[in-house]
Amino acid sequence: MSQSDSPTTTWFEHLDETVESILKNDPAARSRLEVILCYPGLHAVMIYRIANVFYKAKRYTLARLISQWARTMTGIEIHPGATIGRRFIIDHGMGVVIGETSHIGDDCFLYQGVTLGAGAEARQGEQTRDTKRHPTLGNGVVVGSGAEIQGAITVSDNARVASGSIVLKDVPPNSTVVGMPGRVIYRDGQRINEKLPDIEAEAIKSLKNRIEVLETLLRQLQGDNATNLASDSINQSEQDKLDWLDGNTENESTEDPVEVFLQGAGI
Ligand SMILES: CC(C)(COP(=O)(O)OP(=O)(O)OC[C@H]1O[C@@H](n2cnc3c(N)ncnc32)[C@H](O)[C@@H]1OP(=O)(O)O)[C@@H](O)C(=O)NCCC(=O)NCCS
Repeated sequence: MSQSDSPTTTWFEHLDETVESILKNDPAARSRLEVILCYPGLHAVMIYRIANVFYKAKRYTLARLISQWARTMTGIEIHPGATIGRRFIIDHGMGVVIGETSHIGDDCFLYQGVTLGAGAEARQGEQTRDTKRHPTLGNGVVVGSGAEIQGAITVSDNARVASGSIVLKDVPPNSTVVGMPGRVIYRDGQRINEKLPDIEAEAIKSLKNRIEVLETLLRQLQGDNATNLASDSINQSEQDKLDWLDGNTENESTEDPVEVFLQGAGI
């Protein structure tokens, strides 16, 4: 059970232990005063703790109003219906979105731009109201900047989600997830996935192979019907493309752009 379930934790106790945790975890934090005055993540979480009281009392509009005010001040949107454990840190914070039915355990750490969002089923609108639509984070979860975690999935205790990942499935405890879509590369300190598949490159390779097959078939057809093909039935632009495919061009670059991409151009 998360310590956050304890009904005895007061707002000031939350503030005190969260400030302590920020000082412990953030090398840039120099003093309690600096943290209290200058950390928008702390401001957003502490205002959420007030809005959540009103939400639980079914004062929904007031709760949303408070959370929208916090969003204006901090750039962090925490729905007042979310359940958040103790010592929750949002570092920098701008662009963080935490949805209504999210559950966050104790000692979790989010960087800027993280979304704990509803899955695609939320597009069904009011049919999914009051159903669990957002992620559950266990205790000690770290989520890197810009990561998207979507749907009623569980990211278990001490899991780490790398920046920029998109996570749509449950994540086992003590693991590290990277990539788009997210894949577990470490579990209990052991590397379990040596090489991450590059989905986009695989897709492009597959398309390229299909195009090559089609080109070969087309050339064979052209050969079979050579006598039926009048040379003037191919316009100049099409001829240029065929020349380019065949490498018969004096243009400055004859490199296949797909090959260039697959070889890592731009990285
Ligand atoms: C995800 C994270 C928690 C994992 O930390 P860790 O367990 O100490 O492990 P590492 O940082 O060494 O990363 C583990 C592996 O994931 C890879 N990795 C880390 N981040 C990645 C990313 N965003 N995309 C792809 N791979 C990534 C590392 O290259 C490393 O691979 P390797 O073992 O083959 O060398 C950590 O990388 C992190 O905190 N990232 C977020 C940082 C962030 O958002 N910073 C913003 C500051 S403003």
